[in-house]
Amino acid sequence: MIEKMEFKTDLKAFEWYNKRFFEFGVFETSEKYNKLMLEWLGVKDKSRKKLLDIGCGGGVFLKEAEKFLDCFGVDFSSVALTQAQENSAASLVIASASALPFKSNFFDYAVCLGSLEHFIDLKKSLSEIKRILKKNGKINIYVPNSDFILFKFNKATAFQPNERLASIEEWKKLLSEYFSVEKIYKYTESPLGRFLPKKYTYSFSFICSNK
Ligand SMILES: C[S@@+](CC[C@H](N)C(=O)[O-])C[C@H]1O[C@@H](n2cnc3c(N)ncnc32)[C@H](O)[C@@H]1O
Repeated sequence: MIEKMEFKTDLKAFEWYNKRFFEFGVFETSEKYNKLMLEWLGVKDKSRKKLLDIGCGGGVFLKEAEKFLDCFGVDFSSVALTQAQENSAASLVIASASALPFKSNFFDYAVCLGSLEHFIDLKKSLSEIKRILKKNGKINIYVPNSDFILFKFNKATAFQPNERLASIEEWKKLLSEYFSVEKIYKYTESPLGRFLPKKYTYSFSFICSNK
């Protein structure tokens, strides 16, 4: 695993995200991406089951998910949550992923999309996500691949001060300590990316169930 962790505390990291989002706006994922993340999670019908988006940013995924599910979002950036409030009707909470303010076994689904690799206390955050997810609950964890060819030249995903890159095997080993990894997808929006074998793709979506 390649780690670049400039900030050692959530307070410092939170200040950086708030400034970044205030000056340049939140990160925006495409509609295609949001639909696919939900599909890979196995959500097809309006069940009104409960979903938590951890590190929800500006809430663009929540906007898609709330067509089917009762949605909750958590992020430590107040600027991100202000944007999320405009984008979605989800219940939003400002908190760190390492101390989730929810009851145990509460959620049927969770997603952590492009966020886990930035959490300072990775193990505490994974334990918290496991705690709030019901037994056999499903989670989609989207993380960057250290074996992606362009990362050989520039080891950063979105130039964030805290990030980790890992190979498919390393992510699988880590996530398997908490969940049963059921499926691994590669995601790419680039036409060339479609020809890359999964091992070398930009990022992975790990679909896991809470064992
Ligand atoms: C790269 S953005 C991804 C946002 C969103 N999931 C998306 O796909 O657009 C990472 C998000 O994680 C949040 N974040 C980073 N560390 C966090 C932590 N320890 N607790 C809660 N949120 C955190 C940031 O504020 C930011 O909104």
